[in-house]
Amino acid sequence: VPGFHYTDGALHAEGVALSAIAAAVGTPTYVYTTEGLTAAWRAYADAFAGQDVTICYALKANSNLAVIRTLAQLGAGGDVVSVGEMRRALAAGIPADKIVFSGVGKTRDELVAALKAGIHQINVESLPELEVLSAVAVELGVDAPIAIRINPDVDAETHGKIATGRKEDKFGIDFAHAGEAYARAMALPGINPVGIAVHIGSQLLKTTPFRKAFGKLAELVRDLKAHGVPLSRIDLGGGLGVPYKPEDQAPDYPAYAKAIAETVGGLGCHVTLEPGRSLVAAAGLLLTRTIFVKEGLHRRFLIVDAAMNDLVRPAMYEAWHTVIPVAQPAADAVLADADIVGPVCETGDTFARLRPMPPVAPGDLLAFLTAGAYGAAMSSTYNSRPLVAEVLVSGAKFEVVRRRPSFEDSLTLEQMPDWLSP
Ligand code: LLP
Repeated sequence: VPGFHYTDGALHAEGVALSAIAAAVGTPTYVYTTEGLTAAWRAYADAFAGQDVTICYALKANSNLAVIRTLAQLGAGGDVVSVGEMRRALAAGIPADKIVFSGVGKTRDELVAALKAGIHQINVESLPELEVLSAVAVELGVDAPIAIRINPDVDAETHGKIATGRKEDKFGIDFAHAGEAYARAMALPGINPVGIAVHIGSQLLKTTPFRKAFGKLAELVRDLKAHGVPLSRIDLGGGLGVPYKPEDQAPDYPAYAKAIAETVGGLGCHVTLEPGRSLVAAAGLLLTRTIFVKEGLHRRFLIVDAAMNDLVRPAMYEAWHTVIPVAQPAADAVLADADIVGPVCETGDTFARLRPMPPVAPGDLLAFLTAGAYGAAMSSTYNSRPLVAEVLVSGAKFEVVRRRPSFEDSLTLEQMPDWLSP
């Protein structure tokens, strides 16, 4: 993985030993590398070198300001799904005209904020949303540039909780209702229907479902254009996966680019992509320290100081994250199965079951790999555990880019009602 490597028997993030980060910042801590982010960006830039494509990074995967800014400086726009993400995108330096607003349930206030900020495009997902947006745009005296997100009824062949383009999923407007929706969009004041959008799901390792969805969309675009809809933009969403398990095959970027060129390339529309995971996952790991090793009758448990509140993917999607020791194991180290678990009081707080692991002792540092996407972004304070800290590395330098809140910080949002005062 670009950015992480063993040097002199110790795992490093670029030029920084992870043990040094643990000593300075404590654990659990997410560590991101600039090198990894840059390499992920390059993979897209290289694959799309011949095509005019705008890449709007889906902030939901990792909304740390320093991570966003690193990608923004490489040329990324932003795909946001809340006013909070929109403000983060702007704060990190993404210009408004490179921001796309997605999401099935934008509130009126969020639509107002988006129009006031003058963002590039709002991806509308329902007729009621279209009506509210029209009213808001008229009120503000602006035209809202919109794309309508279409549900293409294509199975992304990924985990059920992150497939979004099947007909029973909540996202987008049914393929069969597209004509009606655009007719309404053309008729409504304050609405400028410039685009069409699709996003079929996340963690796709194969490009065939993309090809299927983009092909269907291309047909629809031709049809809509023939009926006078002035479409000039296509937003193909995100979804390209990353290898998590050693046996996972990395997606074929050139094949993905080719599928896009061959399906929507000839439509005369500008293409936007919204990748999240693939830009940040491999660039991050979660650094944790082993608290105890419990030798049970039936299992060996490695109990670590990270928990499901810090990295929820295994509990939520049965996701696999490779776990490696920070001190490089000897080449002839004997592997033995272990369950790797956190301190939270739920059996679901299990990162790995019967995972072959080299010897691990209490106090040893471990790293959960491929944790840069949907890791810190989905963290919580369950069990009154402080939000996990985040560090960004660049060369031989590292910086805490989100500090771990203190216990006092965690109390500041709460107050005691009068009747409970002593
Ligand atoms: N665009 C839209 C409209 C989306 O809903 C998403 C992700 C993306 C772009 C970015 O997709 P990506 O390139 O990251 O696959 N928490 C889950 C993943 C949820 C994805 C939600 N939508 C996980 O940890 O696997």
